[in-house]
Amino acid sequence: MDNKESKPKNFRNFYGRLKGKGLRSLQQKLLNDQLEKLSIPAVKYEINPDRKLIELSDLFKNVTSFSLEIGFGGGEHLVYQAERNPNIGFIGCEPYINGVAMLAGKLSKLELTNVRIHPGDVRDLFDVLPDDSIDSVFLLYPDPWPKKRHHRRRFVTSEYLIDLQRVMKTGALLKLATDIPDYVRQSLQEVCKHHFSWTATDAQDWRECWSDWMPTRYERKALREGRRPYYLTFEKRES
Ligand SMILES: C[S@@+](CC[C@H](N)C(=O)[O-])C[C@H]1O[C@@H](n2cnc3c(N)ncnc32)[C@H](O)[C@@H]1O
Repeated sequence: MDNKESKPKNFRNFYGRLKGKGLRSLQQKLLNDQLEKLSIPAVKYEINPDRKLIELSDLFKNVTSFSLEIGFGGGEHLVYQAERNPNIGFIGCEPYINGVAMLAGKLSKLELTNVRIHPGDVRDLFDVLPDDSIDSVFLLYPDPWPKKRHHRRRFVTSEYLIDLQRVMKTGALLKLATDIPDYVRQSLQEVCKHHFSWTATDAQDWRECWSDWMPTRYERKALREGRRPYYLTFEKRES
């Protein structure tokens, strides 16, 4: 492992929300039960400061590839994908605990064996993911940080993209949805600097949703408020 391990526990700034309203006791119980079954203890620096790289095939049975959803919100897209692709192992990351509780509620009614959860920052997961290990990534409506002085907090910056491209296999797809035109601009500029190519084939490509798409909560809100979604697909090039 690199020297990140020698840094103090709170070595990363996280600017988003970690919790909202208090959880009801049933929600809290479903959350605890699902996290006990599905979280990946090896990821948490606080629990395990001697973290080692994880072996993804140890986390799932009978899967042939691995997918990551970063910031799954309420988890509806993650569940949709996992139900339709039993041969793919899905890891969902989300630091907002009320969102994780929503996913836990959904999973408690299903028999899915191909979902694991990291209830925290994706950067903790990057620390323990082997190079070239992930086959597809969803980044759906990442926090927009609309003020110019906050643009450097966006996901599409080197702080995230260097590690993201490292853990993705060559040829793996990154699917990024956003309703913010300036986020499209920054994504096209920055993602392509980090060993990714934008796969758009014609002018309509990025305005039409993917064929296996389920609108997320955030997308539904954006549409209600009159904003237009954009769908960018990037392919990881050889590094
Ligand atoms: C605007 S919300 C979108 C949620 C969901 N993808 C949707 O479309 O409804 C962005 C989400 O990204 C999560 N997020 C922000 N920074 C993150 C990080 N470093 N690692 C993982 N998730 C993160 C936030 O907690 C938030 O839930």
